[in-house]
Amino acid sequence: MRLKDKVALITGGGSGIGRAIAREFAGEGAKLLIAELDESSGQAVADEIGEAARFQRCDTSQESDVEAAIAATIDAFGQLDIMVNNAGVARQDWDTTLAVNLSGVYYGCKHAAERMAAHGGGSIINLSSILGLVGIGGEDPYVAAKHGVVGLTRNFAIAFGGRGVRVNCINPGWIETPMTDPIRESESIQQQVVTQTPLGRFGTPEEVAKVALFLASDESSFVTGAPLIVDGGWTAH
Ligand SMILES: NC(=O)c1ccc[n+]([C@@H]2O[C@H](COP(=O)([O-])OP(=O)(O)OC[C@H]3O[C@@H](n4cnc5c(N)ncnc54)[C@H](O)[C@@H]3O)[C@@H](O)[C@H]2O)c1
Repeated sequence: MRLKDKVALITGGGSGIGRAIAREFAGEGAKLLIAELDESSGQAVADEIGEAARFQRCDTSQESDVEAAIAATIDAFGQLDIMVNNAGVARQDWDTTLAVNLSGVYYGCKHAAERMAAHGGGSIINLSSILGLVGIGGEDPYVAAKHGVVGLTRNFAIAFGGRGVRVNCINPGWIETPMTDPIRESESIQQQVVTQTPLGRFGTPEEVAKVALFLASDESSFVTGAPLIVDGGWTAH
């Protein structure tokens, strides 16, 4: 049990990567709160996990919602050790994308880091993307927000390292989730992704969750401020 006695909050935990992280963490002994905009999927994941999980509706673009989710986690389980800022959107307008994919991550870092620092430390894990490291010649709001997440990760790692809070981000490549459904529905675009990925396939949410588990656990005790690429080699070109 690599997360025994740890408490986690996972935003966007009702689907895709967030759901896989919730299942992985619960399987390793963590208690967790799923903070999700979509009530039915968020509640369903909490129900599936059982006693160790709670659901709270949360729109991460609203700072007060993020603060309330952190408070609810501490109320339910007494502490907060791991904050996963995972909620994200794709193919939306500039304001919506920046509000969820960048401001939401900022609110999560800001409020979780203070709480964790006051109680001896913790681990914050932000979901960036390979599109937080390189451009793609389109998807401007998504690329800008995900680059911003890498910057926030580094800044918070510097600001809170001395108080025991580690802050890292994961930069997934092309992962099989509802977010990439439109890509996988087009035979030609799907083929392009597979061809450009040295491992020759899309990744699974579970493969990203394994990296989140490493960052959440004490095994990564000297890792902070780092972007961890999980992309089957896509950015190796
Ligand atoms: N799937 C990929 O290929 C991929 C690649 C790189 C990065 N990512 C990132 O990983 C994260 C998870 O993506 P996914 O592929 O699992 O997507 P997904 O669409 O399957 O899940 C995203 C979840 O976030 C929730 N959500 C959306 N807006 C929210 C808000 N304002 N407040 C709270 N919850 C909200 C959705 O309801 C959904 O359950 C995102 O940040 C995404 O940008 C995904």
